[in-house]
Amino acid sequence: MSRDKEKNKEYRKWLFKHLYQQKYLVLLVLIGIFVVSFTLTLIPLIIGAIIDNVLITRDLSNLLIMLIIGLTVSLVNFSLDYGVMMVGHFLGLKIELNMRQEFFDTIQSKPLSFHDNVRTGDLLALATNDVRVINTMVAHGSFFIYPFMQIFITFYLLIEFLDYRLALFCIPFIISYIYFVLGYRKNLSPYMANQMRMYSNLAVVIQDSISGASVVRSFTAEELERNKFSSGVLAFKNNWIGTYRVQSKYYPLLVLHIVIGATFLISCIFVYQNTLSIGDLVAINILLIALIEPTRTIHWSTRDMMSGFAACSRLYNSLSKGKEEITFDKIIEWPQEFKGKIEFKNVTFTHQNEGKNHRPTLRNLNFTIEPFQRVALVGPTGSGKSTLAKLILSLYEPQEGSILMDGVDIRNYPLEILRKHIGYIEQEIYLYPRSIKDNIKFGKPEALEEEILDAAKLAQVDEFVREFPKGYGTIVGERGTRLSGGERQRVAIARAFLTDPAILILDDSVSAIDSETEEKIGRAIENILKERTTIIITHRLHTIRTSDKIIVLKHGKIVAEGNHKDLLQSSEDYRRIFGKKLTQPKLKIEEK
Ligand SMILES: Nc1ncnc2c1ncn2[C@@H]1O[C@H](COP(=O)(O)OP(=O)(O)OP(=O)(O)O)[C@@H](O)[C@H]1O
Ligand SMILES: [Mg+2]
Repeated sequence: MSRDKEKNKEYRKWLFKHLYQQKYLVLLVLIGIFVVSFTLTLIPLIIGAIIDNVLITRDLSNLLIMLIIGLTVSLVNFSLDYGVMMVGHFLGLKIELNMRQEFFDTIQSKPLSFHDNVRTGDLLALATNDVRVINTMVAHGSFFIYPFMQIFITFYLLIEFLDYRLALFCIPFIISYIYFVLGYRKNLSPYMANQMRMYSNLAVVIQDSISGASVVRSFTAEELERNKFSSGVLAFKNNWIGTYRVQSKYYPLLVLHIVIGATFLISCIFVYQNTLSIGDLVAINILLIALIEPTRTIHWSTRDMMSGFAACSRLYNSLSKGKEEITFDKIIEWPQEFKGKIEFKNVTFTHQNEGKNHRPTLRNLNFTIEPFQRVALVGPTGSGKSTLAKLILSLYEPQEGSILMDGVDIRNYPLEILRKHIGYIEQEIYLYPRSIKDNIKFGKPEALEEEILDAAKLAQVDEFVREFPKGYGTIVGERGTRLSGGERQRVAIARAFLTDPAILILDDSVSAIDSETEEKIGRAIENILKERTTIIITHRLHTIRTSDKIIVLKHGKIVAEGNHKDLLQSSEDYRRIFGKKLTQPKLKIEEK
């Protein structure tokens, strides 16, 4: 079986799983559709019976009972029709809700490598548009089933109660109807899949140009972005036109009209020959005319079905990409309190990216960091320092070797326990577009006011916040853009400090800042490094010199390890990294 077919099967299974969860609602809708179709087809029969048994025979004795039956059937039909529509929409809404939640939860539990390979705009489109489209498919599913059900019942009534000769006339219609629906479905499918993709592409363009607003403006790339967006919109429009073209090719209504006309003609002949009653003639023709409406709806209901399936396939593919990282079954005994010892044993790691050369980023790393040690990680840009930090947090998993925390492989720890005990200040600080206070207490929402203030003071946040009119209530803007780089970093330091982690990792490699801020951040760093195991990735000579151990990385390998003095003597790579700084007069003074 080809991979595509297999995937098809899997996403359908996933859709059925969701439908099965709502089995009672689904059953209600299906029964409702049957009763609505059945009662609708009964009405022409009742009209036919009134004509034959009351009007033609001029016998009024049965009229009342027939009218009551007719009225009851109409009432049941009308109210159930409305009911099915409501239940259908409720079912769609429930499935949308469940799928959206499942999507969000799964995305949250995916490892970082998953996020390296997706576009945010795509995920946004999946979580908003695609699940909405699935809702519409389920809600409008009844409109897709109605025509089939009604044709089937009409055919049955013709054979069983009316005139089988005329039933034969309907066979070409049924065959052409099935042919049209199947052809329409097949030809429409690629357009619907495209439509979903194009919507995603539009979301990506919008997301990129908003996130990169400052880059767009500084490179005066507005026109370029506008063109990207316009061509996305145009592609969207052309795709719609394509679907209308397919629609015009597959239009079963014409055949139905021919069948209605021909049936009327033949039934008139039968009446003339006395082989068919007038009542039956009327009943048969109303039955066939009643098929016009559901035949009309088959176009948009099939379109809803196809776009729903396309959305399901996209959503399922995204959910099944890469394994989930949070697996709760691996819990073994783990120390409740971390001492903070970290060991790397033959660790090799390669970034698993789509369409990229898979060259190891880190190779055969072996080192030990003792509890309370302060370790500086240095090395040229791209040597793998940030990646190493992410391995400790288990954001990525090494392909070879193991990382031990207090003697236990980190793969054995529940992730939330592991990460709770590690404070991580990433290289590119991400702040939420909330207040400064909310950002600081992000890792500890239950923190008391004094705790937040203490953390802010130690991280040197307090001094600049006091200048703001709204103080800690100041909203920092998208990704914290309303703060300066140095301010952002200090908020991130306060955020990590508040959780009081046993291990602290500070990725501070890019620190091109003025000396006054440098000093303030330096002070903030010094404050939080105390009394815990710390790994600091930095170019700050003072921080490096005062570390217990320095690990020098180059091309993903450890090329030297030791303290400042030893490395100055023994490591050419270390001297090269700090060569310039060491010859600067100010730093030479510091050295003494
Ligand atoms: N998510 C990723 N996917 C694929 N490759 C990556 C990814 N992140 C980093 N790399 C690659 O891994 C290598 C190491 O990157 P890393 O960010 O660890 O370097 P670094 O030592 O922190 O550099 P810098 O000092 O510039 O911050 C680089 O060659 C980089 O291109
Ligand atoms: Mg880095």
